[in-house]
Amino acid sequence: MEFAHKIVLITGAATGIGRATARELARLGSRVVIADLNGAKAEEAASSIQAQGGEAMSVRCDVQRDDAVAALMSAVSAKYGRVDVLINNASMPPVAGLIEDIPFEAWESALQVNVLGYVRMIRAVLPAMLERGSGYLVNTASSLAILPDPPTRFQIPYTTTKGAQLAMSYGLAHALHPRGVRVSVFCPGITATSDRPGGQSVTTSGTAMPSIAEFLHGVDPRRRTPATAEFAASVLIDGMRQEKFLISSQVGYEEQIVEFAQAGLDPLALMASSGT
Ligand SMILES: NC(=O)c1ccc[n+]([C@@H]2O[C@H](COP(=O)([O-])OP(=O)(O)OC[C@H]3O[C@@H](n4cnc5c(N)ncnc54)[C@H](O)[C@@H]3O)[C@@H](O)[C@H]2O)c1
Repeated sequence: MEFAHKIVLITGAATGIGRATARELARLGSRVVIADLNGAKAEEAASSIQAQGGEAMSVRCDVQRDDAVAALMSAVSAKYGRVDVLINNASMPPVAGLIEDIPFEAWESALQVNVLGYVRMIRAVLPAMLERGSGYLVNTASSLAILPDPPTRFQIPYTTTKGAQLAMSYGLAHALHPRGVRVSVFCPGITATSDRPGGQSVTTSGTAMPSIAEFLHGVDPRRRTPATAEFAASVLIDGMRQEKFLISSQVGYEEQIVEFAQAGLDPLALMASSGT
């Protein structure tokens, strides 16, 4: 796809990968809508794009709320009249902890934002896309959904939602491609974002937080080094340009997925083969 003059709505784009993506798409001529729970940071992100000659608007929006999503859609409709591309990116940071200590509420909020928030946004933009017979949906999952390294043991609710986003995207691609709407799933590798330095700083469930060494134990050295948000955004945009279904900023992911498949998709084999 080409990006010039496209209306691109990105959730969670006040910071991190979403913000870097918004900035680059605006440079390429898209008109970007930054929708984020953090209204002040969203406004700052839009202003910085405008200061560089790009076109952007910001809307404070909690994707957990139907009324907030409806208000977002009204604001976008009033300004631009349509959404060409939705990038679902807003996710709750992982809650770290041992599985037996993670409170049920942490499961509920991860599913509410990361899964139902994506669904809520898709339901908001899809009817008009289907009517026009064109549109593009991107769901941001994680490399942990395709290469489930040992740290998944400390953040099972988060990785559950990332798997759900991937599976949702499979079904959406089958359902919508014949009707003119493209679907991609973006699986960032570990990325140093503003709120998650090294991509690994996570909120706790009030229980013991694993040390970084404990957290990274058994991770394949190829998947340990954080990339920048700008790198992740550039990989995403390149993948969207080619309209690829699976886009990942984990360097070498195709070969690593083959290795994982050959090991029978057994996550323990990922650890055993790492030798760390
Ligand atoms: N950073 C990484 O290492 C990494 C790795 C794999 C996948 N990802 C995924 O990439 C995406 C972006 O990650 P990031 O590190 O840039 O995130 P981030 O934490 O820097 O930014 C997330 C943004 O989402 C917003 N947000 C949170 N809850 C929201 C809600 N209910 N409604 C609206 N906005 C909300 C936050 O205010 C924040 O601005 C996420 O889906 C994340 O799971 C990140």
